[in-house]
Amino acid sequence: MDKIVALAKRRGFIYPGSDIYGGITGFWDYGPMGVELKNNIKKEWWKTEVYDREDVVGIDAAIVMNPAVWVASGHVAAFSDPLVECKICHQRFRSDKPEEIKAHEKNHSGKKAEWTEPKQFNLLVKAELGVVDKQETYLRGEITQGVFINFKNVVDSTRKKIPFGIAQIGKAFRNEITPGNFTFRSREFEQMELEFFIRPDDTEGDKWFAYWKEQRMEWYKSLGINPANLRYRDHAPDERAHYARFATDIEYNAPFGWSEFEGIHHRGDWDLSRHKLKYKDPSTNEEYTPWVIETSGGVDRALLFFLIDAFREEEVNGKTRTVLKLNPKLAPVKAAIFPLQKDEALRKIALEIHNSLKIKIVTEFDDAGNIGKMYRRQDEIGTPFCVTIDYQTKEDNSVTVRDRDTMKQERIPIINLEKYLWERIKNI
Ligand code: GAP
Repeated sequence: MDKIVALAKRRGFIYPGSDIYGGITGFWDYGPMGVELKNNIKKEWWKTEVYDREDVVGIDAAIVMNPAVWVASGHVAAFSDPLVECKICHQRFRSDKPEEIKAHEKNHSGKKAEWTEPKQFNLLVKAELGVVDKQETYLRGEITQGVFINFKNVVDSTRKKIPFGIAQIGKAFRNEITPGNFTFRSREFEQMELEFFIRPDDTEGDKWFAYWKEQRMEWYKSLGINPANLRYRDHAPDERAHYARFATDIEYNAPFGWSEFEGIHHRGDWDLSRHKLKYKDPSTNEEYTPWVIETSGGVDRALLFFLIDAFREEEVNGKTRTVLKLNPKLAPVKAAIFPLQKDEALRKIALEIHNSLKIKIVTEFDDAGNIGKMYRRQDEIGTPFCVTIDYQTKEDNSVTVRDRDTMKQERIPIINLEKYLWERIKNI
């Protein structure tokens, strides 16, 4: 993990939040590479869940909602974690995370660990609005409720018929007791969620729950996560969220242990019935409260696990090469363009290629150092292709394309370069 954290900062993926003021626990800032990677993850998710389907539409609801939403949804009463306090040093932990409790007890070796009784601690972050008549509400603890309270608006404005889904990506906030493991458990994070509405029927529920479990697992695999690092884990009845009839996590084999990537939840009619919303079938006029199958993934967790899974240290000619073997679709920069030698004519050609490509593909121009250093930097940010302009370019209008993973080089005519890159980015 230390290597990932160091690379993330060194290469502009993730910085500690409010760093120059000593940081703030549970908040992170994404740098130039991080924001590209994050946008690419969200773009791929939106493409799979919205654009490639006929039965899903997207929304973008407000972060702050009427506090009545959170009372109805059950979050004010039940969105909590069990908190215990170490009687020796007064640090607070979640009693449902035995591995964290045990790790802390080791700090007090020799002394008998003593803990306070678990108390339920509500995770909603409060927000105060207004100047004179202050209104207290919350920053959303899950993006989900914005979908449910717009269920009728979406049905009326799109005429979507059940079964159909509403997709959303956005920020959520939780007053986590123990933020940690880098961005894994933060207090501000982004979620990408699909709420899929179905008829209230056990066969339908089982069918769609199985469908979405598999679809989400395949999505991670299709973007290059090593299948050996992925597994399902069903929630035991006593760990399910207050809204879930049943739930399965997709977990990743992180350096800090198997950890939740994404949750698939059968929310039944919990939310729509709490918001007193029903659906009327336009062909039969039958009225009912739909059930919901939800897929809820964290963008920050996906980014962290894509980074970890792509990270490699390879021995090349007796030296260590650090490389991020990210799927080209996710890579922040798709191609780096550099002149091989310090030569004004080569620099000019390289800039021309960069300027013509950059409006279609994210490219980076670099003429700062020697070729070895430039390759090293691009390997560390996961750039799949490095395009080098050399003296031969002047003679035959061709360039060298170096593949990040095989390090093999190919000579490509400039005229074919864009097509060549596109095909390779798309097909992997
Ligand atoms: N709407 C359902 C829901 O919010 P959840 O299991 O509490 O379910 C879903 O959260 C996903 O959101 C998690 O699988 C994780 O990827 C992400 N997530 C939750 N809490 C997080 C946190 N504190 N920091 C980063 N990501 C988090």
